[in-house]
Amino acid sequence: MNMDDKAARFAAPDAKRDWIPGNIDLRDTWFPVAYSADVGNRPLRRIVHAQDVYLWRELGRVRAAEFRPDLLESRRAGATAFTGGSCYYRVHERYGYVWVWYGNPDNAHADLIPLIPFLPADGAGIPRYTQRSVRFDAASPLSVENLIDLTHADFLHANTIGDGQSERDVVEFSSTSETLTRTRIVTRKSVAPVMRWIGGVRAQYQDLRAVLHVHLRNNLCISYPSFTPGYAIPNVQPFVPVGKHRSRVDQTNYTVHAPAPFRWLMPRISYVIQPQDNSVLRPQNARYFDPGQRRDLSSRFDAPGNRYRVLMTRLAERQRAGDFGYGADADPAQDISAILGMRP
Ligand SMILES: [Fe+2]
Repeated sequence: MNMDDKAARFAAPDAKRDWIPGNIDLRDTWFPVAYSADVGNRPLRRIVHAQDVYLWRELGRVRAAEFRPDLLESRRAGATAFTGGSCYYRVHERYGYVWVWYGNPDNAHADLIPLIPFLPADGAGIPRYTQRSVRFDAASPLSVENLIDLTHADFLHANTIGDGQSERDVVEFSSTSETLTRTRIVTRKSVAPVMRWIGGVRAQYQDLRAVLHVHLRNNLCISYPSFTPGYAIPNVQPFVPVGKHRSRVDQTNYTVHAPAPFRWLMPRISYVIQPQDNSVLRPQNARYFDPGQRRDLSSRFDAPGNRYRVLMTRLAERQRAGDFGYGADADPAQDISAILGMRP
């Protein structure tokens, strides 16, 4: 299906029925397609919106191209506008990731890479145990929606993250043209099972302040959940769109400040959580492509989720009209330490 067909489906009158996460294809953004540590001299293949990205190193420097290095010469005529016909994508290394520009290479600037305040920018010293890759059988925006929708975690992940028991649970959110920030403040929440088992938290209750900061164009989700008593578990979940039914997430659960053995084991919990999420996402994503099904099962009462759709639709419409610029209210490199409520 070409972009025009996608656009036509997306612009049909029934907006609610027409929210098809897999058809959203936002450009002019950096995707963290791989961990820096995974890229060596042997070429590695990644896929962004069904498009090949080959990564490898030359004298230590990372390269990203549309074809395998040994085929670059012979395939050069097939290069696309994404590389300006050069076969080579614009590429940067930061925060332990290789970031590849998806869009018009003339608009690629390193200062459009989102700032992740708790990770060392040069990636130095990020332990491998904090890095875990998972895949979802769903388009990236559907996974992001699932993450935004807090009501799912308390029942879907009750055995690891915890049940919904608390004294007070307040959710607030705000947005710009490029980001959505959701803050959840929970008072006297039952201590998460993982923190009791391996996290050294002996108390029965703890307070939680969890901030989720979503960069809309590249589905980069930056989370800062902070527990008292306890600690913060800052994490990054970049939902890289592989295709309409697949996303790849090279997570960084930056548990380095948590006590052992929680520090090492917590990042592995994604292997428990991922199948729980996927069991919901996989059938839901398929529904969007089956006209006979009731496509949309999302809650109308999920206000941050609804805002997310509005913002994504707006961005998609702007891009369809040829406007790929970042608005005056948008600065991906903005220091979000205060927004995340980072502990000093
Ligand atoms: Fe989940």
